[in-house]
Amino acid sequence: MASETLLARISDYANRPDPYPLYAELREAGPVVRQADGSCVIGTYHEIAALLHDPRMSAEPRSRTDSSSEETRRPPFLRLDDPEHHRLRTLTMRPFGPPHTPGRVDAMRGEIAHITGELIEALRDREQIDVVDDFAYPLPITVICRLMGVPREDEALFQGWTDVIVASADIGPDEDTTERDKAGLQARQEMGGYLVNLAEQRRGRPTGDMLSDLINEPDPALRLTVDELAETTILLFIAGHETTVNLITNGVLTLLRRPEELDRLRRDPGLLPRAVEELLRYEPPVHMRERIPLADIDVAGTTIPEGTSVILALASGSRDPKRFHEPDRFDPTRPDNEHFGFGSGIHLCYGAPLARIEAETALGALLPHLGTARLVQDPPPYRQNAMLRGPRHLPIHL
Ligand code: HEM
Repeated sequence: MASETLLARISDYANRPDPYPLYAELREAGPVVRQADGSCVIGTYHEIAALLHDPRMSAEPRSRTDSSSEETRRPPFLRLDDPEHHRLRTLTMRPFGPPHTPGRVDAMRGEIAHITGELIEALRDREQIDVVDDFAYPLPITVICRLMGVPREDEALFQGWTDVIVASADIGPDEDTTERDKAGLQARQEMGGYLVNLAEQRRGRPTGDMLSDLINEPDPALRLTVDELAETTILLFIAGHETTVNLITNGVLTLLRRPEELDRLRRDPGLLPRAVEELLRYEPPVHMRERIPLADIDVAGTTIPEGTSVILALASGSRDPKRFHEPDRFDPTRPDNEHFGFGSGIHLCYGAPLARIEAETALGALLPHLGTARLVQDPPPYRQNAMLRGPRHLPIHL
C-alpha cells in the first residue's frame, strides 16, 4: 500500500494493538514520508533527534489566532516556543529534581510508596482486577495533588476533571466532538479556577507545596500571571496523568506476555529502573508529536517546506535498528538506551524523574502479586488516541 497513507493506517484504530510493523514500513519508506494531506512523517531515529533539537522547528499550533480552534488563550508552554516557553518551563520545573535537587519530587518517594501500598491493599482477596481502573489510574492523580498541595478532601474533584479532559482528547475518527469539547473546556475552566483560588489563599502564607512556590515567586520576571498559573498547573496534571497510567499498564502487559522476564525481575527487583527505561523505549506512552518548520528545512536531501505539519513518530525512532540492536526485543538489561520516551531537546519532559519513581514503585509493588497472574484478554482494548497510546482496560486474573 502507498506510503502516503501510512499515517492514516497508523491512526486507524484497528492497528492500535500493534503499530510497530507500520513503523518499520515508515522507516523503510523514509526518512521523510509525505502524506496525501501534505503533512510529513518522520520515523527514523537520527532525523527525529536532529529535528527535535532544531530551533527552526516550532511546537506552536499553526492556528494560534484562529478563533475556531479550542483556545483563543495562549496554549500551555508544551506548545510554545522560546523565549516564552523557557520562562514558564524554568519556573515550573524547579520542584522536579535535577538541576534543582533535592526537589520536592525526590522527597515524595516515601509518600508515593505509601499511596501505592494503599492501592495494593484495596486489591487484596480480589481474583480479577483491571490494572488501569483499579491501580494505574488513581496513582498519578493522587501524587500530583499532593505535590501541588491540593487538600485530600478535594482530590476526588481532580479525578472527575481529568476524566473529562482525558476523554475529550480521546475521540474516535467518526465521533461528533462538540459535546465532549464543551465538557473538556468546562472542566479546564473549573479546574483552573480552583487552582488559582487555592494558590491565592497561599499568597504570603506558603504551605510548603508547589502552588505556594508559584504564587510566592520572588523574581518579578518569572512570576506567572493568573492565566499562566491556570494553564500551567492544568498542563502538569494532564501531561503527567495518562502518560504515567500507560507506562504502568504497558509494564504489566509486557511482563505478563514474557514470563521469563517477569521471573527475572521478581528474583532481582534491582533491575526495575532499567526495565522501566526499556519500557519507555519498547512500549512508550507518547507515540508521536507534531512540529511546524518556520523555514524550509532540508532533511536527508528532502526539503520540507515552511509551514508543513511534521509528525515525529517518536515510538518508531525508539525502534530504529540503525540506532538500537535488536530493537523489537524487550531487554531490561539493554545498554546505551537513549530512547525518545520523554522526547528530546528543549521540550524534554521534566516530569521524567517523577514518572520514573511512580512506575518503579508501582511495578515493584505489583511484582510479588504477578507470579501466577495471567492476562484475561490479549490484546486488551485500547484507547482511541494514536499519539498517546495505551490500553483502556487491562483485566488480569490474579
Ligand atoms: C511516563 C510518563 C511520562 C511520559 C512518557 C512523558 C512524555 C513526555 C514527552 C514525550 C514530552 C515531550 C513533548 C514534546 O516534545 O512535544 C513531555 C513533555 C512534558 N511533560 Fe511529560 N511525560 C510523562 C510524565 C510527566 C509527568 C509526571 C509530568 C509532570 C507532572 C510531566 C510534565 C511534562 C511537561 C510539563 C512537559 C512539557 C515540557 C516542555 O514543553 O518544556 N510529564 N512529556
